[in-house]
Amino acid sequence: MKEQSSKSWIKSGEQVLMTTYARFSLVLREGSGAVVVDVEGKSYLDFVSGIAVNSLGHCDARLVKGIQKQAGSLLHVSNLYYNIPQIELAKHIVANSFADKVFFCNSGAEANEAAIKLARKWAKEHRGSESFEIITAHGAFHGRTMAALSATGQEKYQKGFEPLLPGFRHVPFDDVTAIEKAISPMTAAIFLEPIQGEGGVRVPQRGYLSRVRKICDSHGILLILDEVQTGMGRTGRLFAYEDEEICPDIVTVAKGLGGGVPIGAMLATEAVARSFTPGSHATTFGGNPLACAAGIQVIERLTKGETFLKRVRQRGEYLVDRFTRLQHRTSLIKEVRGKGLMVACDLAIPVVAVIEKAMGKGLLLNRTSEKTLRLIPPLTIRRSEIDQMFSILSSILRELE
Ligand SMILES: Cc1ncc(COP(=O)(O)O)c(C=O)c1O
Repeated sequence: MKEQSSKSWIKSGEQVLMTTYARFSLVLREGSGAVVVDVEGKSYLDFVSGIAVNSLGHCDARLVKGIQKQAGSLLHVSNLYYNIPQIELAKHIVANSFADKVFFCNSGAEANEAAIKLARKWAKEHRGSESFEIITAHGAFHGRTMAALSATGQEKYQKGFEPLLPGFRHVPFDDVTAIEKAISPMTAAIFLEPIQGEGGVRVPQRGYLSRVRKICDSHGILLILDEVQTGMGRTGRLFAYEDEEICPDIVTVAKGLGGGVPIGAMLATEAVARSFTPGSHATTFGGNPLACAAGIQVIERLTKGETFLKRVRQRGEYLVDRFTRLQHRTSLIKEVRGKGLMVACDLAIPVVAVIEKAMGKGLLLNRTSEKTLRLIPPLTIRRSEIDQMFSILSSILRELE
């Protein structure tokens, strides 16, 4: 049988898929490590990694084996019962974080919904029924479901979906004074990304989170961190909050946790988690044995010794260093920022042209705004692959200069 071309796949896709994405004309069929291959057999070096999802690269042998083994024994059971992979994964998370308890779900937005509900319930019990407001930041992105969307600090995602959920107050990011001013007896929690991902990889000043922690303590309110993008090793630590040596009350993760299998989680301290009781919150698929088996493979790899995360930090430093060197040779690079393997680069020109040319040359890149490129490769990216990316990117910038 003749293989279908990408053109005909795209035509079929346009007929049956909702247009919630402005997709590129690319149909991907398989992947290995940091490389994906399209239906015509062309290879691409993947610096997008499913938007910070394929933490171990594509089709990592041990991850695939772990999933296959689990698929052969138990795919799904209700949360009315216990299952072993769910308990094992929660044990790994608890052993490697501030958290005492874990709630599993299926995505970042769902993890944030759970966090918002838990914070409201906790505040009602501990601060009174008028305390339900959550302070979040301008430029934040917390997901597309209604509460997560209302928490998000970017109007472009919210337009057309009003009225938003009440109870969110937005303040400038990386501004402790603005937070202090916004706190009232109605405040239940402060909800922040340690580094704003979709907002353009915005790294706050050192000490920001620890100062916010102190504010939360002095007012008796919760600190919730959205580590959906920064978590699971992305910044070179298992969780980005570790760099500030603080203990949050609630953390949400998803993306890299399953290495490509959909899974999210909300982590909390015992004192806060206690506000959820049977019936408070639930999800059919959350903590599904298959997804948790994938999560176990990922977290075991990330936490076995120091090597994995140390290498993420080294690769991240190398990436930024190469960008800085390139910046000296071109006027098109305005600013480079990031932590670990979460790096952004502001260009003087719209980045769409760069992304399209890169695709032509076998490199997948991503942007967060018109002029901001974001690099979020698999955490297993090799130095030689970073060199390869720079060789393509610098040739494109030379062409465009
Ligand atoms: C920080 C952050 N929170 C939440 C989300 C939403 O996650 P999901 O798309 O899995 O719902 C994202 C997705 O980009 C994110 O970057």
